[in-house]
Amino acid sequence: MTKSNPSVITCKAAVVWKSGEPPKIEEIQVDPPKASEVRVKMLRASLCHTDILCCHGLPVPLFPRIPGHEGVGMVESVGENVTNLKEGDIVMPLYLGECGECLNCISGKTNLCHKYPLGFSGLLLDGTSRMSIRGEAIYHHFSCSTWSEYIVIEAPYAVKVDPRVSLPHASFLCCGFTTGFGATWREITVEKGSTVAVLGLGAVGLGVAEGARMQGASRIIGVDKNEMKRKKGEAFGITEFINPKGSDKSISDLIKEVTAGLGVDYCFECTGVPDLLNEAIEASKIGLGTSVLIGAGFETSGDFKYIPLICGRTLKGSVYGGVRPKSDLPLLLEKCANKEIPLDELITHEVTLDEINKGFEYLKHPDCVKVVVKF
Ligand SMILES: NC(=O)c1ccc[n+]([C@@H]2O[C@H](COP(=O)([O-])OP(=O)(O)OC[C@H]3O[C@@H](n4cnc5c(N)ncnc54)[C@H](O)[C@@H]3O)[C@@H](O)[C@H]2O)c1
Ligand SMILES: [Zn+2]
Ligand SMILES: [Zn+2]
Repeated sequence: MTKSNPSVITCKAAVVWKSGEPPKIEEIQVDPPKASEVRVKMLRASLCHTDILCCHGLPVPLFPRIPGHEGVGMVESVGENVTNLKEGDIVMPLYLGECGECLNCISGKTNLCHKYPLGFSGLLLDGTSRMSIRGEAIYHHFSCSTWSEYIVIEAPYAVKVDPRVSLPHASFLCCGFTTGFGATWREITVEKGSTVAVLGLGAVGLGVAEGARMQGASRIIGVDKNEMKRKKGEAFGITEFINPKGSDKSISDLIKEVTAGLGVDYCFECTGVPDLLNEAIEASKIGLGTSVLIGAGFETSGDFKYIPLICGRTLKGSVYGGVRPKSDLPLLLEKCANKEIPLDELITHEVTLDEINKGFEYLKHPDCVKVVVKF
């Protein structure tokens, strides 16, 4: 078999040339897919807080680079060994895959596959890039780079989407919301009747709230310094809201105040503020509580307090909420197709690819949750 479209495509993409510089719309070349890859014409993308870190060279400073790890598109061409996808399929390009055969996949305990890993090299699995500009290779963001009219990804990283799921929803289910949602039932299991606190009610934290509601948590305490997140949180199931702004008490003390001094069974850190990791640990019950670290920020470490963790609490880190693309994601996609989750609440702003920098400005607005990019 030959590749369905062997030509190089010239298209527009948002390229970051230097750490901290805003993305610039450039004309780039996208190679045809290699044997196990697919080339995708992007239809929607979205901005995740982690893209801001990518533009600043975190966790790895590789430039020029095309950010973006949320999006949805239509398969334009397929490599000769690809059997599970065909031209015209609508797919979500994910940043991790699930081989089902490696040590981690077989364990059933993690979504961090060894064969199709979360990649930090900025290159595809064969160690090369499919994108270039004036002959210079451009680094990918994880295994994708969704802020481009066309992208190439390894086929095992692409998940076929039920057409009943709207395009903007499919886009942000590639990261933010799914990460929070999955953390409550895949990364750890929030039991029915348990108490939960969520620090930060962005797309990730709102996903935690929805997941905790699905798991039957008795109390879901949303914590955010932005008062506008109270209403958003309520739409996704928070039962109480704490705004720590203006209080001289710590977040963990504020949570203990409303839980008879005990703290909660599960606390999720979704702000990316390093110091709040200690707060997330201390807000959980001594001897019993579990805290999940999801947020990632500019400072890669804070002052870690040992004693609260030594006192019998558990700390777990999470990538994509522990959600396995093949085994778990379909459950969430089915809920979305059935409109069981008020995902429209998350869409607050829309831009075109040309306006990507306006999107970054929108992220600073207090009412902003998700900025969707329309191609
Ligand atoms: N581990 C993963 O797989 C993964 C996936 C997606 C995002 N992330 C990370 O998760 C974090 C959240 O992402 P998001 O897209 O929801 O971000 P976001 O910026 O939309 O939301 C963060 C929320 O935290 C609140 N906040 C910030 N500082 C606070 C403070 N000091 N006290 C109380 N509230 C505060 C903000 O008001 C905001 O509502 C980011 O750090 C992001 O990089 C991790
Ligand atoms: Zn695997
Ligand atoms: Zn993300």
